[in-house]
This record gives sequence, C-alpha cells and structure tokens, in this order.
Amino acid sequence: MASISQEQASHVLPGVKNVVAVGAGKGGVGKSTAAVLLAYGLHRSGAKVGLLDADVYGPSIPTMVGVEGHNPVVSGNMIVPPVAGGVKIISIGFMVDRDKPLIWRGPMAHGVIKQFLEQVEWGELDYLIVDLPPGTGDVPLTLAQLIPMTGAVVICTPQDVALMDARRAVKMYEQLNVPCLGMIENMSYYLCPKCGHRDELFDHGGAESAAGELGVPFLGEIPLNVKIRIHGDSGSPEKLFTDTPDYVTQAIQRVVSNTAGQIGIRNSIREAAPTLTVE
Ligand SMILES: Nc1ncnc2c1ncn2[C@@H]1O[C@H](COP(=O)(O)OP(=O)(O)OP(=O)(O)O)[C@@H](O)[C@H]1O
Ligand SMILES: [Mg+2]
Repeated sequence: MASISQEQASHVLPGVKNVVAVGAGKGGVGKSTAAVLLAYGLHRSGAKVGLLDADVYGPSIPTMVGVEGHNPVVSGNMIVPPVAGGVKIISIGFMVDRDKPLIWRGPMAHGVIKQFLEQVEWGELDYLIVDLPPGTGDVPLTLAQLIPMTGAVVICTPQDVALMDARRAVKMYEQLNVPCLGMIENMSYYLCPKCGHRDELFDHGGAESAAGELGVPFLGEIPLNVKIRIHGDSGSPEKLFTDTPDYVTQAIQRVVSNTAGQIGIRNSIREAAPTLTVE
C-alpha cells in the first residue's frame, strides 16, 4: 500500500510536526497507559503535545487524564479540545453516553477519526500521540490513509500471546508504510515493595528479543506497579512522574526518551525534532 505524500496531507494537521500512533496489539496490555506516559513525558520535556483517543470502541483516555464528562466546545465548525495538565485531548468519550455500547461499522469509525484529525483545533503541536484500539483493524488503516505518521510504537507484555499480536502489529505497520519506532515491554516485572523480591508474572524479555528478530528498536520496559494503575484510574497523569517509586519513574523516563530519540531519527530527513531532555 502506498503511503500518502506530504503534499496530499498538507491540509490535514498543518501545525502538527509529528504524529505517533501507540498500540495495535493485544487488548489490555497497557497501550493507553503507554500513550499517556509518552504524551505527558514529552510534555514535561517542554514539547507541545496533543493526545487523540482513537479507541472509538472503548475510550479510556478521558478517565486516565482526568477530563471525564467534559462537554466539547465548538467554535465555528471546529471542536476545541480540552487541555488536561497542558496536553490537548480529544476522545469520542466526550460525545457519547458513558454506559452506551459503541458499535461502529468501519466507515463510521473512519468518519470519527477523520473528524478528529480535520475538525479539532490542534494548533501548533510538536507531537500528536494517538492511542489505538486493540487489534489490527480499521483505525490504524484509516490513520495511515489520512495522515503521514512519523511512526508507531507497539506495546506488549512479555507473554507469548501478547507477543504474537505485537508481531502482527509490526508487520501491519510495515505494510502500511508506517515506520515502527519500536516496541515497549509493559508489565515487564514486579518488585515486591515489602521484601524487594522480583517476580516475572508474564515472563520477561520477550519484547526485546521479538524486536531484535523483527529488526525494530526496543524502547524499554515498564514494570508492573500499583501506582501506575492508581494514577491511571484517578486521572492523574502527572503523578506517574512524581509519585511512583524511583525505579518505575526511571523506567518510564527511559521509555519516553528512547521514543523521542527514535522520533528524532525518523524525523531527521523531514524536519528536525525539538531537542528533548527528559528530567
Ligand atoms: N505497568 C503497569 N502497572 C500497573 N498497572 C498497569 C500497567 N500498565 C497498565 N496497567 C493497568 O492495566 C489496565 C489496562 O491498561 P490499559 O488500559 O493501558 O491497556 P490497553 O492496552 O489500552 O487496553 P485496551 O486494549 O482495552 O485499550 C489499566 O487499569 C492500567 O492502569
Ligand atoms: Mg486502551
């Protein structure tokens, strides 16, 4: 499949320097968590960031960043995205009932994503992070058709079933001509806060070796930690950086800076990415 040209796409997201998709893999492995970590990590390093919740079937970003129940403001024919902790957010969750099942046919999902790209006032952004639904369905295809993406990040846990889906996702991006920026291993291990014992609940190291096999970068591992779950559930993304044990914060920061590095590399032929230093 041919990728779209810069000229074709110049009218879509004119002020956005980098579009980075996160996900396309097994359900529940931490795609949205990783999207939030990347968005807020990049924001903390001084970049202008937007976060587009492309999970039109199960939007979780509004809850995770603390803007659940927000009513979208419309100015002219453009939607003004709410800003949560400095990051612009859009989600279908702002437009539908919380308990209503979201049943979209392919063209309808395509229409929603198109609207989120074309009719949201994103303004000037260094990064637009896109949280994808599980699987290799319509949404990543739609994105690849509508905008030139800087690249995609694939999230997985170390267990075989998750790695299988992650491999499929990497291959899908290859077919869509979207560069794979790399793989992140989430829930990589667990450290007991009482005795320091390390458990590898879902195995360990599978993503790094899969990345090696597939020839894509390995962006790092994120441990399983209750604070990550708590700050996600309570919509406090900043606390992922300020209220997690040191080894967790450091792991998160490594993943953010490795991803920023890969974006910079991919981008160097197009336009220079801003220099990022993650504190
Ligand atoms: N490293 C982690 N440590 C602790 N909890 C985590 C971690 N990563 C994710 N979680 C929790 O696991 C749950 C699933 O994560 P998340 O929603 O990010 O997954 P997902 O892949 O986006 O799921 P879906 O496929 O449904 O979109 C959430 O409650 C989240 O807070
Ligand atoms: Mg999700």
